[in-house]
Amino acid sequence: MTDKELIAAAEKMRDSAYAPYSGFTVGAALLSKDGRVFTGCNIENAAYSAANCAERTAFFKAVSEGALKFEKIAVATGPKGKPSEGGAPCGVCRQVMLEFCEPDFEIILVSDENSVSYTLEELIPHGFSPKDLNNV
Ligand code: THU
Repeated sequence: MTDKELIAAAEKMRDSAYAPYSGFTVGAALLSKDGRVFTGCNIENAAYSAANCAERTAFFKAVSEGALKFEKIAVATGPKGKPSEGGAPCGVCRQVMLEFCEPDFEIILVSDENSVSYTLEELIPHGFSPKDLNNV
């Protein structure tokens, strides 16, 4: 699975986003260490707080299918042809990533022409993770 293929999977999944309230569509493609790809989109709700982000949809699909270790995720935000600037994962999604990923887990933010990568450690430094509970 190349980065290009992962990015294409995230962009395709963005078309499945259910975002009638914000109009902000997001697609994600998550690569597990055993080579599987799990995709997810954002799913909104009339009761706004019940919405789920694309990244968490992908993680929850993956974990429910037995994948627990991950290599990288590609995230495509904003309508095609009108990519959003700086569509980085929200704090809750970063926390979910921290549960299952190492500090070098790669987050690829996609815009129409370009992509930029961060490590999880860069996006959520000094976070609270399972390691903290194990230290008790
Ligand atoms: N959203 C995501 O799916 N992922 C992100 O990284 C940021 C925000 C969704 C949540 C909501 O459906 C819409 O984008 C606007 O916040």
